Amino acid sequence: MSDKRKGIIKLLRDSVGTPVSGQDIGDKLGISRAMVWKYIKALRKDGYHISSSPRTGYVLATYPDIIDVDELESKTNTRLIGKNIRYYPELISTNNTASEIAPLVPEGTVVIAETQKGGRGRMGTEWQSIKGGIWLSLILKPSIPLESTAKITLVAGIAVTNSLREIGLNANIKWPNDVLVKGKKICGILTEVSAEVEKVDYIVLGIGINANVNVQELRQEIRDYATSISKEKSKTIDRNEFVASLLYEFEQQYIKFKTHHFADIVDEWIALSDTIGKNVKITTPSRIIEGRAVSITEKGSLVVVDSNNKRNEIIAGTCRYNY
Ligand code: BTN
Repeated sequence: MSDKRKGIIKLLRDSVGTPVSGQDIGDKLGISRAMVWKYIKALRKDGYHISSSPRTGYVLATYPDIIDVDELESKTNTRLIGKNIRYYPELISTNNTASEIAPLVPEGTVVIAETQKGGRGRMGTEWQSIKGGIWLSLILKPSIPLESTAKITLVAGIAVTNSLREIGLNANIKWPNDVLVKGKKICGILTEVSAEVEKVDYIVLGIGINANVNVQELRQEIRDYATSISKEKSKTIDRNEFVASLLYEFEQQYIKFKTHHFADIVDEWIALSDTIGKNVKITTPSRIIEGRAVSITEKGSLVVVDSNNKRNEIIAGTCRYNY
C-alpha cells in the first residue's frame, strides 16, 4: 500500500466520525487537495464509507473489515510479541508459513492471513478459515525442554479467554486448547514444535478465532458446536483492535511463563476453566481415561480421578464431557 494512502487512512481513522479537511490532510502528507480527493475516491471503492463536504472536509463513517498491519501495529502495545507482523490476504495455513520462516525471523513474529485454504486443526482435522476470522501463528523461541511445550497451549488459552472477556464475552477454556462461549467453540489452538533431541528450536502457536465469522457459512457438522464473536456480540468487531489486545494478553502470560511463574498460570487457567469439575472422557493415542477432571499440574497435565479413585495425569489428548 502506498504511504500516502496509509497516511490518509490513519488520519481518517484517528478521527472517525469527525471531519478532517482536505487541506489538512494534504499539508500533513505533502500532497495537493486534488490528490487527496483521488485517494478518497479509491478508498471509497475499497469499502471505506467517507462522506465529504466542501466546508468541513472528509468524515470516515465506517471502514472495511480487513486486517490493516499499520493499524494493528499502532494499536499493539508489546515489547516482543507482534513486533514483526507478516500479513497475507490468503495462505494455505499460517502455521505452515510460520514454520518455513521460523529459523529466519525473530521470536514474537506473527503470521496472519485473511483466509486459509488449508487451515489445520488438531489430530489432522481441517480448520475452516473463512473471511472475517482471526487466523494467526506466533513464532516463539523459548529455551525450554520439549515436555514444557504443553504449557504454551495453556498460556495461549488464557490469553484468548482474557481478551474475549475484555470485550464482554463470558469465555472459558476447555482442556486442552478450545475456548468456548456459552458452551460453543469460538477458538482453537494448534501448537507445533520443532525440536532437536530434547531442546525446543521454535514453537509455532496457531490460534484460530471465529471473530466476524458468519456461523451459518461453516460446514454443517460444526455449525451447531461453533460460535463467533460477531454472533455473540450481534455486531462486527474491529479485528485489528482485538488482535492487538490478544498479543498484549499473550505477552503478559508469556512473560510469566519465561520467568518461571508457572504456578500463577496454573491458577489462572483453573479459574478460567470450563473443564475442571466436569466428568470427562480423555482419549490419548495409548489409552482412554474416564473420570472427574480435578486440576492441572505444575507440568501442565490435566488431573483426572477415575472411578477407582486413581489419579491420572494427562499431558495431551482430546476431551469429551460425560454428562
Ligand atoms: C483445533 O481446535 O483443532 C485447532 C485449530 C487451530 C486453527 C489455527 S488457525 C491459524 C493456525 N493455522 C492453521 O492452519 N491452524 C491454526
